[in-house]
Amino acid sequence: MRIDVLTIFPDYLAPLGLSLAGKARDKGLIDVRVHDLRAWTTDRHRTVDDTPYGGGAGMVMKPEPWGAAFDELLADGDATVVFTTPSGRPFTQAVARELATKERLVFACGRYEGIDQRVLDEVATRAEVREISLGDYVLNGGEVAALAITEAVVRLVPGFMGNAESLVEESHEDGLLEYPVFTKPATWRDREVPPVLLSGDHGAIAAWRRDQAVRRTAERRPDLAHASVLLEDVEIRPAEPADAGELYVLQLACWVAEQHDNPGVRIPALHETYDDLRSWLARDTVLVARSAGRLVGAVRASLDDEEWEIGRLMVAPDLAGRGLGRTLLERIEALAPGGATSYTLFTGAGSLRNQRIYKKAGYRLRPGEPIPGAVRMTKRIGPR
Ligand code: ADE
Repeated sequence: MRIDVLTIFPDYLAPLGLSLAGKARDKGLIDVRVHDLRAWTTDRHRTVDDTPYGGGAGMVMKPEPWGAAFDELLADGDATVVFTTPSGRPFTQAVARELATKERLVFACGRYEGIDQRVLDEVATRAEVREISLGDYVLNGGEVAALAITEAVVRLVPGFMGNAESLVEESHEDGLLEYPVFTKPATWRDREVPPVLLSGDHGAIAAWRRDQAVRRTAERRPDLAHASVLLEDVEIRPAEPADAGELYVLQLACWVAEQHDNPGVRIPALHETYDDLRSWLARDTVLVARSAGRLVGAVRASLDDEEWEIGRLMVAPDLAGRGLGRTLLERIEALAPGGATSYTLFTGAGSLRNQRIYKKAGYRLRPGEPIPGAVRMTKRIGPR
C-alpha cells in the first residue's frame, strides 16, 4: 500500500517512521511519503491560507497549492483521498477495514478553518474522496487524525500482523469492547486474577470473556451494540397468567434493594400479595423477559387519562447492567396507545441509579412528592 500525506507540518508525521507503521515499511508492506504542501506554493511567502469569503473568524486554506499537489500526486495512478476534518464522517474500525483494502491512500491534512471546498469537489471528479473525522472534538489540524487512521489501517493490511486471531479478538472487531485482560502474577497487591481464567476450562473462559465484553459495552458504549446482540438469548414477550409466580418472586427480590435505598418508605411492590399481582397482571399491559427459560425481567404499563404510566421495571440482579432494563423500557413505551401524550413513571426519591437511567432515557423529574418518598418522572411522546 502506498500512503502519501500532504501537510504544512511534515515533521508532525515523523512517528510514521516508528512503531507499527515503521515495521510495515521495513517489511515492504507500505510505502509512506510525506509532502510539504508549501512545495506547491508559488509566492515568495509560500502562502497557503487567506481570509474567508463572506467574512468570519480564522483563515481558509487556498485552493491553488492543493490543486497543484493533487495534479502531481494523482498523476501516479488511482488513489483514495482522505481529507481529515472534524466535519467528516466518524472514523471507525469498519472504515479502517475498508481503507486497508485500498492500494493507495492520500491524506490531505487541513489546518485553520479548513480547505476551500472547491478543492474537495474538484478532486472528487478524479479520485475517490473521503472526509473523515477522528471524533467529536476539534484538533489544531488533521495531522494527528492522519497518523491515527494510518496506524489503525496499516495493522490490518494483510501480512502485517503475525497473529490474525489477535485482530479478531480485540475491541470493536465483533462490535463489542474487549474484555479485561490479566497476566502473571496471579496475585498482585492483594488483587486476584478472576479464578475462571486459571481454571483451564476453555468453554468457561470464553463464556466469561463474552459476558465481560457484553457488560462493558452495555455500560460504556450502549450506542455500539444493539440490545439484541447484548441480550442474545433473552426473549421479551407479553406476560401470561402462568408467569405470575416467578414474577412475584423476582419482584420481591428486586424491590428489597429498593428498600435499602429508600429506608422507611412504604414500597407497594414489597407489600402487595400474590393475588394483588395476579390482578394487575390480568389488567395491565405487561412484558416479561426470559433467558434459557428463566424469568429475568419485566415491566408493566397502563393508560391513566393521557399518560402511559410505566412501572414495575425489574431485571434479575445477575443480568443488571446489560441494557435489559433499557430495552424493556423502550418496548413498553412502544406499546403506548394512540391517545397517550406522555410516559410517566415513579421511583424512590433515594433511588438515584434508577433516576439516572430514566434521565438518560429522556425522562425529567416533575416537582412535588406524589407518594411519600417517591418522585415522578415524565417524558413527552413525540409524533408517531
Ligand atoms: N482536524 C481537526 N479536528 C479534527 C478531527 N476531530 N478529526 C479529523 N481531523 C481534524
